[in-house]
Amino acid sequence: MRILTGIQPSGRLHLGNYLGAMRQCVELQAKADDCYYFIADYHALTTVSDPQALRDAIRGVALDFLSAGLDPEKVVFFRQSDVPEVQELTWLLSIVTPMARLELAHSYKDKLAHGKEATHALFTYPVLMAADILLYQSDLVPVGKDQKQHLEITRDLAAKFNQKFGEVFKMPEGYIPETVATVPGTDGQKMSKSYGNTIPLAGTPKEIKKAIMGIVTDSAPVEAKKDPETNNVYKIYKLLATPEQAAEMAERFRAGGYGYGDAKKELLRVYEEVLAPFRERRARYEAHPDEVRDILASGAAKARAEARRTLEAARRAVGLD
Ligand code: ADP
Ligand code: TRP
Repeated sequence: MRILTGIQPSGRLHLGNYLGAMRQCVELQAKADDCYYFIADYHALTTVSDPQALRDAIRGVALDFLSAGLDPEKVVFFRQSDVPEVQELTWLLSIVTPMARLELAHSYKDKLAHGKEATHALFTYPVLMAADILLYQSDLVPVGKDQKQHLEITRDLAAKFNQKFGEVFKMPEGYIPETVATVPGTDGQKMSKSYGNTIPLAGTPKEIKKAIMGIVTDSAPVEAKKDPETNNVYKIYKLLATPEQAAEMAERFRAGGYGYGDAKKELLRVYEEVLAPFRERRARYEAHPDEVRDILASGAAKARAEARRTLEAARRAVGLD
């Protein structure tokens, strides 16, 4: 079974990305015989317009993903733009893409509602994503809830193409684990780079401390008994700590005499403990940029060989042989 997913290099990755996406990817590599994970840099171009910011983000995502524990021996890890075949497949799929389907896509409408210019790239974003998935004949695609519609579009396009030109693409399934919690940000909304409420994964100790100490809480005095379920410090703590540790903090809050400052210090301690292996690996990869480059180059070579096979079949099917 082939598992494939992509992550956009559109900023620095945060705890929400780690707990909500990367950790699952790392766990899946042990279960699946075949994993394709890639850095969706063509997609990121729809939002990042500064070339240096894009370069930095690509490097950051590569380091973060590998440091989260990707095993480059097991996973084909590559940059989307290292396999330009995906662009040709995007074109071939666009032949069977109804305009109306794209006009109704939530993420497109959402981006326009947030003031983004209606560019062609933003509009065809889901077709490029379908090409990512279909090019590698993927079986299972782990994504966040916000990507559900993009997967439906992918399946529609695969079915339409296969029906019109013959069976070329495997029908992929989305994998949206319901058990994965939405990680709250320091202000209590969903943690997201767009809201400036993140705890960065690869931040300096000072940045991480600042983010954690800045978590918004109410002004209940230390003595007050507090409901753990309504406070942000506990909500984030619960996602990182062991169940026993979480139960202990909850009890302390309920009993009273336990302040948010102490809870934040405990959260910082657990954050550092849980992410210690990540940090160690990141420091090692940072010191060996050649190794990262080699991993991506070898991933791209494998991915490209696979991509060419599908693209050839698609070209043949439409009469471009
Ligand atoms: P952001 O909201 O910061 O822009 P992305 O939309 O790029 O993050 O998300 C990349 C991946 O990380 C997706 O799979 C998404 O579901 C996951 N993710 C992002 N933020 C969170 C969060 N706060 N909680 C859980 N998962 C998240
Ligand atoms: N659109 C996805 C996101 O923003 C990233 C992505 C691009 C992707 N291509 C993909 C995810 C293919 C899964 C499969 O999260």
